[in-house]
Amino acid sequence: MDVNPDRLNAFMGKMVVDVGSAMNASLILLGDKLGLYKELAAKGPMTSAELAKATGTTERYIREWLSAQAASGYIEYDAETNKFSMQPEQAMALADEESPVFLGGIGDVIWAAFLDEPKVADAFKTGKGVGWNRRSECLFCGTARFFRTGYKHHLVQEWLPALDGVVEKLKSGAKVADVGCGHGVSTRLMAEAFPKSRFYGFDYHEGSIEAARDLTRKAGLSDRVHFDVHSAKTYPAEGYDLICFFDCLHDMGDPVGAMKHVRESMAADGTCMLVEPFANDRLEDNLNPVGRMFYAASTMICTPASIDQEVGLALGAQAGEARLREVAKQAGLTRFRRATETPFNLILEARA
Ligand SMILES: C[S@@+](CC[C@H](N)C(=O)[O-])C[C@H]1O[C@@H](n2cnc3c(N)ncnc32)[C@H](O)[C@@H]1O
Repeated sequence: MDVNPDRLNAFMGKMVVDVGSAMNASLILLGDKLGLYKELAAKGPMTSAELAKATGTTERYIREWLSAQAASGYIEYDAETNKFSMQPEQAMALADEESPVFLGGIGDVIWAAFLDEPKVADAFKTGKGVGWNRRSECLFCGTARFFRTGYKHHLVQEWLPALDGVVEKLKSGAKVADVGCGHGVSTRLMAEAFPKSRFYGFDYHEGSIEAARDLTRKAGLSDRVHFDVHSAKTYPAEGYDLICFFDCLHDMGDPVGAMKHVRESMAADGTCMLVEPFANDRLEDNLNPVGRMFYAASTMICTPASIDQEVGLALGAQAGEARLREVAKQAGLTRFRRATETPFNLILEARA
């Protein structure tokens, strides 16, 4: 085998960066759990002793964590004052839950991928699935926090207005189903924006529905938001004006069956909104940083989830518009278009 030393060096350089990122994932989790990013963003520049005191932690550990964060480029270090700080952009991504680029909750999802790895390794051999109900607890709230950033800043502002005539219906009072709703982040955001409408969240995972109900009670939205344990093929078919699937159709075993149920459950002029991870149609066009992130999550989470269910179509998180259009078409939803997109999401509209 001819080894090109320059290519080898370049590849080893890439691996060093990737190993550092992978090791740092657990430090992101620590920074989030212990409130280290938030404290540093609010009160920095700080020495390690000051951050340790402010967060009730131990200086020696904090000094090591801060050093790793500075080496990662996640925070800044001033050698003259021996203080650490965060630039506004770093704080937006890691410390500010309300910012449009907050990613600070991702540690829980990465943790879940590692915790559940033995189950997924087993599934690779047996060909069986790993259902959402067999996942580690941290996956559920990690997912809710990860997706919340995009939903909070795009759903009401851009995605719903991109659908044909839907906002008018929501304003005057519509009936909405949020299928595979998880903790109901999207359901509550819509309910807050459209008080005259009624929202019904369904998910087959009991724990997620309990969490969704609890969060909704706390948000004071229980008058217009209801959650029930149901699969995408069993929720009551009650003439919804809008049926939404947020980042979940590809997790389902039988997405065609789910879309057939949409057809039966929609009002005569109803709309189905599919929010799916951004993807191009061909593998070679997804070989980029966003595709990398989604293919990895899909390998560990989405594909095993789908294979666990009946049919087990396993669309994967990089299904792409053409494949999703085909699913909708097979279910008899023939009007299908890309309503809008972000770098991370495709927003697709399907109608009968
Ligand atoms: C990636 S999570 C997305 C959750 C939520 N929509 C969000 O955006 O935060 C996928 C969700 O789909 C749900 N799910 C998977 N298969 C389902 C099915 N066949 N019927 C109903 N829900 C399902 C899971 O329980 C999980 O809550």
